[in-house]
Amino acid sequence: MAITITMGIQKGGCGKSTTTGILAYLMSQDYKVLAVDMDSQGNLTELLSEHVSNDFVGSSVLEAMQQGDAKKYIYEVSDSIDLLPANNFLATFPRWIYTSKTYNGEYVPFKKNPSLALDELLDQVRDEYDFILIDTPPSLSEQTTNALCASEYVVVMYECSNWCYSAVPNFMDSVKGAREFVHTETEVIGILRTMNDVRRSDAKAFNEIIEEDYPDLVFNTIITRKAPIGRLSLYGFKENKELNQAIIQYKDFYKELIDRVQNR
Ligand SMILES: Nc1ncnc2c1ncn2[C@@H]1O[C@H](COP(=O)(O)OP(=O)(O)OP(=O)(O)O)[C@@H](O)[C@H]1O
Ligand SMILES: [Mg+2]
Repeated sequence: MAITITMGIQKGGCGKSTTTGILAYLMSQDYKVLAVDMDSQGNLTELLSEHVSNDFVGSSVLEAMQQGDAKKYIYEVSDSIDLLPANNFLATFPRWIYTSKTYNGEYVPFKKNPSLALDELLDQVRDEYDFILIDTPPSLSEQTTNALCASEYVVVMYECSNWCYSAVPNFMDSVKGAREFVHTETEVIGILRTMNDVRRSDAKAFNEIIEEDYPDLVFNTIITRKAPIGRLSLYGFKENKELNQAIIQYKDFYKELIDRVQNR
């Protein structure tokens, strides 16, 4: 039975998609992984598939939820990574769950709990994977709520800055909301400090503040800003001469994460 982990924070540009992609890649050396893109930007989709997200119009996680068929929409990235892709039309997900109208005007009734559309979809395939990793958009939207409610664990992405710092408490409340209002078992497994600019004293200060606030949750690994990590969006995982430099820091995070998951 898969363990499902969401990468989230409503602040934009904190490394959610990059982290989800690298984690999927690292996990796939040891496990069978399903990556789920719940962000209409489709960045995880483009990173893993090396196709533009528009190539998946009509064949994405949105149609999978609307038709109640996960397998039909799974895209095979490699032997051990599958992907439920996303594109811009995922932005119409809230309209569909509240009005039953799809983006192309069809009527596809949705009468269940609006927070559990993804959870119910993933139930169809959980026994085929060791891990399911979900990337979320930079908002506390229905896409994020669905991801939280479909997950056992959440990694809070923390870019070392003031605006990300101020986003954390509300994000924590959203995770709590998933537990209390929808009765899921969702819990935060850790806070990952990312995109750390080692030359900036304010970044150092925000690293320390979050550690003081959540001493049991922060991972020891801090991901720094590195050009090869940024260029993953260009070169991907297959023919990337600097892949090792891009993923090296993430190997320590991966070890810490697996340790925590195994010791729960
Ligand atoms: N450690 C890093 N060093 C340098 N660049 C990075 C690093 N991590 C991510 N990036 C780059 O920073 C940008 C934001 O990262 P990413 O898209 O992963 O964040 P995100 O949280 O998913 O953003 P959004 O909220 O828009 O979904 C991207 O251009 C990415 O390539
Ligand atoms: Mg993203």
